[in-house]
Amino acid sequence: MSVHRLFLAAAVLLASCLPAMAQFDFVPKPASVQVDEGASFVFDKNLQITGGDPFNVQYLQQHLDRVFDRRGDSWNSQPGRIEFVRTKSFPREGYAISVKPGRIVVSATTREGEFYAIQTLLQMLPPQVYRRVSGPDALLLRQWEIPCVEIVDQPRFPWRGSMFDVSRTFFDKAYILRHLDWLAYHKINKFHWHLTDDNGWRMEIRKYPKLTQVGAWRGPDEALEPAFNSGNERYGGYYTQEEMKEIVAYAAERNIEIIPEFDLPGHSKALAVSYPEMVCRHDAEIKSVQGEVHNVLCVGREKNYVILENIIKEMASIFPSKYFHIGVEEVATESWKHCPDCQAVMKKMGYTDESQLQGYFAQRMETILAKYGKTLEGWEDIIPTETLSRNDLVLVWHNQNVMQKAIDAGFPVVTQNCFYLYLDMKQTPAERGHSWATIIDVERVYSFDPLQELDLSGGREHLVKGLQGGLWAELLYYPPHFSEYQLYPRLSALAEVGWTPQEKRDYADFDGRLMRTHFERLRNMGIQFRIPMPEVDVRGNVRSPYPNMVVRYTFDGTEPTLASPVVTGPVVTDQPEKLRFATFYGDIKSQTVEVPGARKYLTPAVRVETTLQVNPRYPVENLSLYEARKPLRSAGAPKAGDQVLFSFEAPLNCSRITVQTADAVNNFYGVTQGHVEVKYADAKDFVNCGTFDMYNRVVVPAGGRPVLAVRIVIDGPCEGKAVYIQPLIIE
Ligand code: ACM
Ligand code: ZN
Repeated sequence: MSVHRLFLAAAVLLASCLPAMAQFDFVPKPASVQVDEGASFVFDKNLQITGGDPFNVQYLQQHLDRVFDRRGDSWNSQPGRIEFVRTKSFPREGYAISVKPGRIVVSATTREGEFYAIQTLLQMLPPQVYRRVSGPDALLLRQWEIPCVEIVDQPRFPWRGSMFDVSRTFFDKAYILRHLDWLAYHKINKFHWHLTDDNGWRMEIRKYPKLTQVGAWRGPDEALEPAFNSGNERYGGYYTQEEMKEIVAYAAERNIEIIPEFDLPGHSKALAVSYPEMVCRHDAEIKSVQGEVHNVLCVGREKNYVILENIIKEMASIFPSKYFHIGVEEVATESWKHCPDCQAVMKKMGYTDESQLQGYFAQRMETILAKYGKTLEGWEDIIPTETLSRNDLVLVWHNQNVMQKAIDAGFPVVTQNCFYLYLDMKQTPAERGHSWATIIDVERVYSFDPLQELDLSGGREHLVKGLQGGLWAELLYYPPHFSEYQLYPRLSALAEVGWTPQEKRDYADFDGRLMRTHFERLRNMGIQFRIPMPEVDVRGNVRSPYPNMVVRYTFDGTEPTLASPVVTGPVVTDQPEKLRFATFYGDIKSQTVEVPGARKYLTPAVRVETTLQVNPRYPVENLSLYEARKPLRSAGAPKAGDQVLFSFEAPLNCSRITVQTADAVNNFYGVTQGHVEVKYADAKDFVNCGTFDMYNRVVVPAGGRPVLAVRIVIDGPCEGKAVYIQPLIIE
């Protein structure tokens, strides 16, 4: 008997021990589910499938092959059937599934509805149905029994999306395809592909090869400067047209429409370095919100519209989507004030404010897009432009008041509300991510209703098309799989917000489905999703966030691993400052936590001097205060040779010194090229203690020697326009 056979025997035992009325833990939850607890259907390898769209049937079969043993005899003398039938009565993405003994009937009007029925069927099967393994390594069940059930389902909103920024951090074709698979499993049907921004142009345009020869790369010798920890190396990438076509086709098979975004007329640095003649003619150093200069497209230069039309023409041959997203956000409109060409348009059009040029630009783009059968989508800054077509789609990223403005102006809208749906926000204060909007945990995403606070009187409900999660990529380069950590399970929650009737939604119920089954599905999909950290109190009491997750710990300040012991009761030690805990779900690990308040920090008197130009709002004196959120910030980019010198008033005895750079909230503007030196009380010279790793360097004084001074030395250009130096953390 092979190992697999043994595994099979155990699995079959498990399957047949399931109570007949096993819960279906669907995510997103269907509109109507009626379980008949008295009868069941048995899946096995001899299942017969009739009807159905050829792709859909093949897709279903591929997934079934990951769990059912197709060798040997069936145990089931009467193989079950799945019959796909097309009837006229369903909305486009709706379907019904009727499970009776020996027979499943799937009804839908379209191949999309049928595809979603298949997603629901997959969620009736063990989570291994999502494993990307078939053949001998598959789960190899002989059979799987489910209770009979009647499901009638359709989505609440037609637009359920995921926006992914591939400019700040680049993700290759293989990763995008996996991302699309995950979306499809969640019945998400829009992929908003943020393909261009200040830090990288990611789509091949054959007529303008410099867009990717120049604009897709950043680094010390590139036109785009290093950013987001791309450090001293050439960083970047782009999609060829063939790759984009393949991705679009892959998505379409899975009922996902890809909406390309090229973010203009602001956020155009990558375009601007490729074709400098396209930006405004002036030398003024006008900074965008992100601190970029000369990143504003000239809207008064007629030749730009010819170039943009040529770009759109090529894009139209790649992207069949109705909408093309042209950006229109966070434009440093001040730039247009200094440009003779833009001022000429102001005069000709009788404008009084540069912001009107945004509307002018959108209007011009609307006309060009229409020539290629495309409808304009833009960020909320397009709302005030009265002359724009009310077919154009507004993507709102601020709050419901802005939604209301778009609706009152008569536009169809999709929300990517930054206070609920920005998945680049931190999930708790201690985790990596932004927090400028707010902290967004999975429950907060779930709590959102796209219709909340809106006045939709006068039959305007139809204007709210739906919602999408937004993942901006400036922090995604680290740690590995951080994009997945940010996406799931928050995107699972968003999927349910978009799909499930509002009155059927309940967070505790959703959380139970996550725990019992959906986490295991995500794990089988190969997603390194986020799990919550354990709760640890000052007495060493430790609680796992979920009963099916364990907490592991270490005694020596190191990161817990799969080899670390599991917490089984209060953890008692006389060195609580060295305890570290993490939740584990299989090999998926949470962020590490410590006993609160156990680590004691020293704050010895210290004098700090620097050769950096200092931003007066973040003076060097801050570094003597040892206060969180009080760093030094330079007034410009640091240069090789710049130093920050910390001199202690008395020789310092300590066990370690953590030297931290970068903004504590955003993780920006850290030292990427530099090292730390220490001067011991008993020595004449400084000794080199090593370079920065992810903006930080930990110094352990050799042999417990007292320290007199610590020096940060900049060795080369660091990314970004400034650098933050944090107070020393001394233990
Ligand atoms: C945005 O976050 N600026 C759309
Ligand atoms: Zn201009």
